[in-house]
Amino acid sequence: MQLPLWPEAASAVATDVDHLYIYLSVVSIVMSVLIFGTIFVFAIKYRRRSPDEIPQPIHGSLRLEITWSVIPFLIMLTFFWWGAKIYFLNAVPPPNAMDVYVVAKQWMWKLQYPGGQREINELHVPVGQPVRLTLASEDVIHSFFIPALRIKHDVVPGHYDTMWFTANKPGHYHLFCAEYCGTEHSGMIGWVDIMTPADYANWLAGGASGGTMSQQGERVFEQLGCATCHLLDRQGTSPSLRGLYGSRVQLTGGQTVLADDAYIRESILNPNAKIVAGYRANSMPSYQGQISEEGILQLIVYIKSLATPNAPGAPTAALTPGAALIPGVALHPAVAQTVSALRRVNQRDGGTQ
Ligand code: CUA
Repeated sequence: MQLPLWPEAASAVATDVDHLYIYLSVVSIVMSVLIFGTIFVFAIKYRRRSPDEIPQPIHGSLRLEITWSVIPFLIMLTFFWWGAKIYFLNAVPPPNAMDVYVVAKQWMWKLQYPGGQREINELHVPVGQPVRLTLASEDVIHSFFIPALRIKHDVVPGHYDTMWFTANKPGHYHLFCAEYCGTEHSGMIGWVDIMTPADYANWLAGGASGGTMSQQGERVFEQLGCATCHLLDRQGTSPSLRGLYGSRVQLTGGQTVLADDAYIRESILNPNAKIVAGYRANSMPSYQGQISEEGILQLIVYIKSLATPNAPGAPTAALTPGAALIPGVALHPAVAQTVSALRRVNQRDGGTQ
């Protein structure tokens, strides 16, 4: 069997990454040839021809030294500039991205779609549609890797990671685990099916027996008895969850926190980590061990669907990439993306803003 020299590229980003990679390789080859060629030529040209040949002492040349420092420095900066550009363009998913939830466990990938479809080791997405993957792990560190899209992200137990892409070429592509995670790590593989919108619609119509992901989440909500304290339409003994998702929550102690996936997950597993202002600590038990990572994701999707009555399902400003730092002052889109990316890193690392 003949191995291809280069993996297939199924997104615009993949082509960008390839161009950067080719540029890095070409610059590295040119520099290596220059350096080793010069050594070789000089070694022959300036070799000692007789035992008593004494060379002229050289006292250096400032102009030459500045030239050979500044020019390579500028060339190296182009790597940084180009790499940073690709990184920032891909750091923050666009607001219209479709969600797919990925749970890794030894040794399989479990995928859930908002429509309620679930599958193992197979990801179905339409071409031309931004897709945001929320990555969670049930056990150890895995890494979700789709070579044809040139995207790879560690999947770390205990918190969510996200990654996104827009595929531009239908096909059947490899999916790998790229982090050694135990005996059957090498078998933790699967397929990504990038489909035309019509094929994708057919696939979606094919089945979600248990209702949408939000309906599945509602069932988990009832099974765990969440509704006993979290009343939806009036104030109970616990905060109402309607309109919670994407809002800023005031905590005891004065800080506020963005009610995102990570916050909701933490509040389910470790309710005392952040106490909402006006409520007591220890009034909610931990659900650690009683709910799977998939169940938590279903609950999050359900809570997300509980929008405030006057703004049904509307994404809030807090979750929109590039939300202004100063109200009323728009940021340049590239700066806004950078700010959003840094905010996300900050939140992920548990910092406060
Ligand atoms: Cu999972 Cu390697």
